[in-house]
Amino acid sequence: MKICVLSGDGIGPEITAEAVRVLQALDRPFEMEEALLGGAAVDATGDPYPEATRKLARAADAVLLGAVGGPQWDALPREKRPERGLLGIRKDLNLFANLRPAILYPELANASTLKPEIVAGLDILIVRELTGDIYFGQPRGVREENGERVGFNTMVYSESEIRRIGHVAFQAAQKRNKRVCSVDKMNVLECTQLWRDVMIEIARDYPDVELSHMLVDNAAMQLVKAPRQFDVMVTGNMFGDILSDEASMLTGSIGMLPSASLDDKNKGLYEPSHGSAPDIAGQGVANPLATILSAAMMLRYTFGLEEDAARVENAVKQVLAQGYRTGDIYERGTRKVGTREMGDAVLAALAA
Ligand code: IPM
Ligand code: MG
Repeated sequence: MKICVLSGDGIGPEITAEAVRVLQALDRPFEMEEALLGGAAVDATGDPYPEATRKLARAADAVLLGAVGGPQWDALPREKRPERGLLGIRKDLNLFANLRPAILYPELANASTLKPEIVAGLDILIVRELTGDIYFGQPRGVREENGERVGFNTMVYSESEIRRIGHVAFQAAQKRNKRVCSVDKMNVLECTQLWRDVMIEIARDYPDVELSHMLVDNAAMQLVKAPRQFDVMVTGNMFGDILSDEASMLTGSIGMLPSASLDDKNKGLYEPSHGSAPDIAGQGVANPLATILSAAMMLRYTFGLEEDAARVENAVKQVLAQGYRTGDIYERGTRKVGTREMGDAVLAALAA
């Protein structure tokens, strides 16, 4: 059970350290090795996804990632930016299936900006395609045309790419409430008409799952209007990027949400859904729970350690019930703690 640990930039090292402690506390023979990704890698090697990291990540069964990026790297040429490291490792490891659960913990119902009766009991899984679409499509660039600059990107999906992410969504739904909502923009974009057609074809293999379709603009609206109508949402890379940020905020704090990015053989990269939060980096105040919950997803999806995964998730629920809160989820009457103390509390709950 080899785990490549990429703590990355900003708050990445602080939150990753807590997730590593949780994994170590489980007493399983994990082999963990650290490497550089993102801005930290650019500073050390000039490359956001250096060869040494590539080797280690390819050889590992799973990758635990903190976060990448920060303002100090924003002026670099595109191929040297930290984000390119993240896109590079996703593509290199063929991590096409991005699972982003949005779950509202009852203790945090007040953290949401939506009325509690709209979000109570929320449990959505967004399945985002992660290695195709306009993110990777060619041609792309900015060129000179008729004396002015013209920018262009290409939205492209092959039917096999759509099919494999579709299967992931339907299989996930079978383990949940058996509903898949596929999100597209078929009224305008041919590429997403194909997306819809392929989803309808796949649905025949899953008679126990109900498939519905929604245009992305309506989906964005429905997510804030009546989010509990959704079980599994499946969509392309760009729509998934946007809708998953929106869904995360229904729960009040993006600091609580884990994610898994999987290939077709259970290898996975696990990272919190939030970014590197440079504004609070190094202060020991970041919320490590999303990263700890990402480690739980790793236990479940890559290592098949369902019981350990549930133990970690229950420990997180327990510390919330005990009133521990980092600044992002703090409210009066609860106990404000830092990153390390939150990690300590989870470890104590695990040991209890
Ligand atoms: C995400 C992020 C990334 C993405 C960025 C950092 C490249 O927003 O994981 O959602 O757009 O995929
Ligand atoms: Mg995003």
